[in-house]
Amino acid sequence: MNVYDGWRIASLLEHHGFVRTDAIPDADIIILNTCAVRAKATDKVFSALGRIRRAKKPNALFGIVGCVARESGADAFRRIPDLNFVLGPQSYHKLPQILENPDSRLLNIDLGGLEKFDELPQMERSPRVAYIPIQEGCNHVCTYCIVPYTRGREISRSFESVMAETLHAAKTGAIEICFLGQNVNGYKFIDENGTLYRLSDLIRETAKIPEIMRIRFTSSYPTEMTDDLIDMFSIEPKLLPFLNMPIQSGSQNILTRMNRPYSLELYTDIIRKLKIARPDIQISSDFIVGFPGETDSDFEQTMEIAKQIKYINSYSFKYSPRPHTAAALMQDQIPENIKAARLAKLDTYLNEVQREFNEGCIDKTLSCLLEGTDKTGRHLVYRTPFMQQCIVEYRDNAPELTDIKITAANKASLRGKFID
Ligand code: 5AD
Ligand code: SF4
Repeated sequence: MNVYDGWRIASLLEHHGFVRTDAIPDADIIILNTCAVRAKATDKVFSALGRIRRAKKPNALFGIVGCVARESGADAFRRIPDLNFVLGPQSYHKLPQILENPDSRLLNIDLGGLEKFDELPQMERSPRVAYIPIQEGCNHVCTYCIVPYTRGREISRSFESVMAETLHAAKTGAIEICFLGQNVNGYKFIDENGTLYRLSDLIRETAKIPEIMRIRFTSSYPTEMTDDLIDMFSIEPKLLPFLNMPIQSGSQNILTRMNRPYSLELYTDIIRKLKIARPDIQISSDFIVGFPGETDSDFEQTMEIAKQIKYINSYSFKYSPRPHTAAALMQDQIPENIKAARLAKLDTYLNEVQREFNEGCIDKTLSCLLEGTDKTGRHLVYRTPFMQQCIVEYRDNAPELTDIKITAANKASLRGKFID
């Protein structure tokens, strides 16, 4: 979501005549787009702000946008007095106000919902993978999560507005569409005639666009994985055989304390149905270890579910207490060393499974989408349908979407060669 917001902000500034630079001392405006989901991310923002203010031109405009802006509000001005603007994730379209009035200070952390989508100019060129937000905010209110506070209650964009942006992306360079939302599969829009549109309708409509060859969506909440959406995996070949559906914990007791009231049976049943719909589907998860009250036995149940599902491409985190959340006030917080040991154990296992999966791809031919070159410029980086990185020898005019034969693998990436 932040990558998308970053593009929109960059494109807004380009409309105002700005050009990009990587050098802070050259910049006339510097914007830090921020994430507040874990304390570490927030802390990094304030240390980066300190570095930037020392390196920037004295009169350069300087501000933060995103979830840390929303969380800190006016306090950010107190901590970093030379900040010019603090704009929340749903008010960065107000940025032109500070361009018109550079000597003022601008604070706007309102939850304006979808206003920004209508106010921002369309991007001139789409990246090959176009992220398209279809809903913002979240109504689930997991007890550890700051998102319902920073991005507000859940709201879905209109079907028409999503499809207009998708079509525009397709006509200006997109090959893959990734629909985004904190609770993406909860997308629901009812038009003036009372017609209900769901994520499955967006997928069906997007698949008709000839330029679009791959479709995916993230992140999914288990109980919103309805049959119409599961069916899409068997009906629509452009939908990639890969799904991020975070379980967070394998302990029923911890899930209840997290306010994620689904049963493990329901979760595994969805995966069973998905495998029937698309036998090669792979699942990715997010995990939180060391949630307040998590016992050794609770954690072992997380290891068990990981062993059962064999997730690929997952993310795991130590629980981080966040302001405005219920779990931060729970009494039985877990000591840091226990969290670290549990994370190391889970990560070791997840990496092992990823390596096995990657090695299983050797000698297979996968359809891959070009991402760019590696740091050396001597290789091309492609993405497989399972979101693995695949490294190929550089060649000029390389195809954007092509079959690649996998020749080698490790836990982080694949190597491959063009078929011809
Ligand atoms: N501590 C640790 N991880 C968190 N996440 C969200 N809130 C927290 C927190 N307080 C993780 C969840 C979520 C991902 C985006 O970030 O796993 O799925
Ligand atoms: Fe946060 Fe996701 Fe839970 Fe919503 S479903 S509250 S975004 S963790």
